[in-house]
Amino acid sequence: MLQVDRVTTPHAVLSRNPYQPYLARIVRIYRMVPDNHLFTLRFLEDHLAASFRHQPGQFVMLSLPGTGEAPISISSSPSRPGILELCVRRAGRVTNALYRMKTNDVVGLRGPYGNGFPVHDIVGNDLLLAAGGLGMAPLRSLLWYALDNRDRFKRITLMYGAKTPAEMLFREELVSLVDRSDLTCLLTVDRDPTGTWKNHVGLLPKLFDYTEIDPVTTYAAVCGPPVVYKFILERLLDLGFSKDRILMSLERRMKCGVGKCGHCGVGYKYTCLHGPIFTYWDAINLPEMI
Ligand SMILES: Cc1cc2nc3c(=O)[nH]c(=O)nc-3n(C[C@H](O)[C@H](O)[C@H](O)COP(=O)(O)OP(=O)(O)OC[C@H]3O[C@@H](n4cnc5c(N)ncnc54)[C@H](O)[C@@H]3O)c2cc1C
Ligand code: FES
Repeated sequence: MLQVDRVTTPHAVLSRNPYQPYLARIVRIYRMVPDNHLFTLRFLEDHLAASFRHQPGQFVMLSLPGTGEAPISISSSPSRPGILELCVRRAGRVTNALYRMKTNDVVGLRGPYGNGFPVHDIVGNDLLLAAGGLGMAPLRSLLWYALDNRDRFKRITLMYGAKTPAEMLFREELVSLVDRSDLTCLLTVDRDPTGTWKNHVGLLPKLFDYTEIDPVTTYAAVCGPPVVYKFILERLLDLGFSKDRILMSLERRMKCGVGKCGHCGVGYKYTCLHGPIFTYWDAINLPEMI
């Protein structure tokens, strides 16, 4: 079983020069939904492919020569090394250029960066993952890490919401988990235009009605658009969660990714270095964090 070591310094694994990207080949492009594709990448150098390790919740800087760089969460689990999966939404310059690339094309990667989820603290506890929309991208790494190390966690619950079934990321994969006896997998859509969706219909917080969550024994990992934070945080606090058991993956515009340029500063913290995973306690004590 793979042991995930906490990466205390960014670029610790890959780069001596923190700005130097390493080349990786696109080995697969899975068009999950029109503007959200899953890119599977493998470093050209075999020793990098074999030695790269990350923590669920960390990100890489993805670079395309002549275009620029963008921070992207690693969606694959460290328990499945050798490749990296990035779930990328087409947003602007870099991601548009990525969407023009094909299988076997080469991109640059540096990282892994950020703190990642505090897996060592979560181990031995219940885990609730609550995601909306693209928020599934960083949480998927933690989900598969926990499922691949099932004996190290107690109850695992996934709550994931999308607008429609067609817009649900990783839909086939997640639907295939619904019947697992060692996971409570609750999937919902705001509406079901086709009438063929066999899971829940309704807003994400409604899923709390279908299961019991113990606030004392559970760590909650939350990621999604602002509305998800608003309503999920309300529910978690109503349940009695302490603020340091709520873990949030937050985004800020980034440039260097390594705590040098100041672009992602919030209060006295840098999102790229001290985040992107913050406890709710951190978030409310840092100005303009949420
Ligand atoms: C830690 C972290 C993890 C992330 N993980 C993912 C992920 O897994 N998948 C994913 O798809 N995305 C992820 N993102 C978001 C992604 O990095 C951004 O969408 C990034 O901007 C895309 O780069 P781009 O060059 O394609 O888009 P950009 O050209 O940067 O444009 C993106 C959007 O921002 C606007 N914009 C551009 N410049 C500015 C500016 N200076 N101020 C305000 N708005 C501006 C553009 O109009 C556009 O709407 C993550 C971000 C962070 C910080
Ligand atoms: S992106 Fe440069 S300090 Fe965080």
